[in-house]
Amino acid sequence: MTVPLVLVQGDITRQRVDAVVNAANSSLLGGGGVDGAIHRAGGPEILADCRRLRAARYGKGLPTGRAVATVAGRLDARHVIHTVGPVWSATQDRSELLASCHRESLRVAAELGARTVAFPAISTGVYRWPLDDAARIAVRTVREAADPADFDEVRFVLFDRAAYDVFAAELATQGEG
Ligand code: APR
Repeated sequence: MTVPLVLVQGDITRQRVDAVVNAANSSLLGGGGVDGAIHRAGGPEILADCRRLRAARYGKGLPTGRAVATVAGRLDARHVIHTVGPVWSATQDRSELLASCHRESLRVAAELGARTVAFPAISTGVYRWPLDDAARIAVRTVREAADPADFDEVRFVLFDRAAYDVFAAELATQGEG
């Protein structure tokens, strides 16, 4: 049995889930894209928690492929799980780091007892990872790593129709059960 995977086209900051995953950068101090949207919608409590984490544990930054949780502020969620995706490289295979973002986010979510988790398409914006390859890695890793005993649903929230279609094709290819 695998965890139900659900695709939604829309804004991840509008999802009601236990945990929202953020495609952050290692500074944990916010940025553009989905990171900016999460901090704007969630409000200053998230940044304050990020700053605390930085001071306590990640003075040199959160390494690529790792994940860490904060409060979710005004989002309709209990936690934000910040993970740092790899920047796309045409010369280096960084797929394992992108897989690690998904695995580590799920590990943190399970530790927190978060049973519904929403992921954006990590690394596919500013970090330029090709969507079809990112979808393949994301869907495969979540299918393999999410224990059905821990999760009721893992949701991929794709901002635009094109990204939604790519993830839908990937889900169909890999099978939905
Ligand atoms: N909801 C869902 N998806 C979104 C939203 C949103 N509100 N806003 C943007 N996206 C999508 C983008 O369309 C893209 O497909 O999230 C995906 C990831 O894009 P980025 O946010 O650019 O993330 P990433 O490529 O991982 O780059 C991370 O961007 O802003 C910085 O601080 C962040 O430096 C880090 C870098």
